[in-house]
Amino acid sequence: MRADHAFAPLVTDRLTLRRSEPGDAEAISAYRSDPEVHEHQGWDDTDPDHVRGEIVEMADRDPGGPGGWVQFSVLDDAGAIVGDVGLRRVEDEQGVIVVGYTIAPAHQNKGYATEAVRALVGYAFDVLGADVVRAHADEENIASTAVMRKAGLAFVERWDHEEDGQIYHIVRYERRR
Ligand SMILES: CC(C)(COP(=O)(O)OP(=O)(O)OC[C@H]1O[C@@H](n2cnc3c(N)ncnc32)[C@H](O)[C@@H]1OP(=O)(O)O)[C@@H](O)C(=O)NCCC(=O)NCCS
Repeated sequence: MRADHAFAPLVTDRLTLRRSEPGDAEAISAYRSDPEVHEHQGWDDTDPDHVRGEIVEMADRDPGGPGGWVQFSVLDDAGAIVGDVGLRRVEDEQGVIVVGYTIAPAHQNKGYATEAVRALVGYAFDVLGADVVRAHADEENIASTAVMRKAGLAFVERWDHEEDGQIYHIVRYERRR
């Protein structure tokens, strides 16, 4: 797998995925702070300053390189931010890229997550040279697992994760090159 230092935005039929910029923080914070969006995600903090800080930290990382998540803002054809997606290389497994995704409630159920994740999967295989693309979700997050399947990922395993006294049923989906 290789690190892509010169990332060029990914353009799909309706969307553009470009590296998130500090100026995106307010829009991203607004939908991440929605309880329904927050419910299935592990974010500690969704206020604009925190989101901006994460974007600044990620700017030093290359997709496919070490260090953690790299985030892309998802823009519609009017240039509005409708969500964000991200990927990270798994440090202790060769050739594995994990993807994550969020679409703002006002823009959900239009196929945007599927379109963005398909683009990200293609990018991970074709540009980064990944062998496996992986995603995780709470099993009850029906929309998320639907997106995985529509992007060509298949169920691999399920396990229980306990946090703050609550049990979550986590599923892992993967697609191989
Ligand atoms: C998961 C998420 C990204 C999906 O975004 P989206 O743009 O609405 O996704 P899509 O429109 O591409 O596809 C959603 C699919 O889920 C289906 N769906 C949504 N809610 C559903 C429900 N309650 N029951 C059954 N299916 C449902 C839709 O019908 C659609 O499938 P279809 O095209 O076969 O009809 C979005 O809901 C979200 O951001 N949720 C909060 C954050 C999150 O959970 N992220 C994933 C973490 S693993």
